Amino acid sequence: MIDMILFGVFPYVAVALAVAVGIYRYCFDRYSWSSQSSQFLESKALFWGSVPWHYAILLILLAHLLAFLFPSAWGALLGEPGRLYFLEVTGIALGVTTILAMLVLIFRRAANDRVCAVTSKVDWALLIALLIQVTSGVYIAVTLRWGGFWYVHTVSPWLWSLVGFSPKIQYLAEMPFIVKLHAFNAFFLLALFPFSRLVHVVSVPLSYISRPYQVVVWYRQRSGN
Ligand code: HEM
Repeated sequence: MIDMILFGVFPYVAVALAVAVGIYRYCFDRYSWSSQSSQFLESKALFWGSVPWHYAILLILLAHLLAFLFPSAWGALLGEPGRLYFLEVTGIALGVTTILAMLVLIFRRAANDRVCAVTSKVDWALLIALLIQVTSGVYIAVTLRWGGFWYVHTVSPWLWSLVGFSPKIQYLAEMPFIVKLHAFNAFFLLALFPFSRLVHVVSVPLSYISRPYQVVVWYRQRSGN
């Protein structure tokens, strides 16, 4: 019963919240639709946290997405041991990068008074949920070999069953606790998305690529942030 709620019902609640609250916020509170950057309060730690975080997490999510969308091709790709090792080692290296980057970002918000002052309870919830997500992901990759491979026979069919509105929770029900935590927390993050800074994920400024340059002049003291 509890598995049904967590893996057969909650994913739909999360998607519904993300879409409905997301649209509402975009229409009625568009000014808040942003990552609400705190770069002008502190930029050094932000750089060392944010840049590695974004490169690593985007590559990891791309691998999750490809394995979900093209399970047969992904399974065939990893059928050769050399490619499987390469993907697992790269995945774990990227995963460890996301953990370290997240620790930098959390420490920055806790240690810098000015940044801490503009950090809300939702921000903290988001940072903790992201840390749980990447830590559990790396834990799975290290302890439950070979995740890249068994993903296509368990996670992909479960996700596709959700897409088809016929949840087959048995794929997840037999999994170790850490996999269940990782899967549930992914949808918890989706539910948190419209209430948090995560909304910036769907407002990638693509027009920046083609627009004319802007000159930004910073005023800062030599020893400053
Ligand atoms: C918010 C969405 C998600 C994020 C940010 C995320 C993040 C991560 C990270 C950082 C890793 C470690 C990378 C690696 O070492 O390969 C990982 C691995 C993994 N994730 Fe996720 N994940 C997400 C969603 C999911 C979902 C919904 C599932 C379904 C159960 C899932 C299943 C896995 C599995 C099986 C692995 C191990 C892969 C391997 O051993 O190579 N992830 N994830």
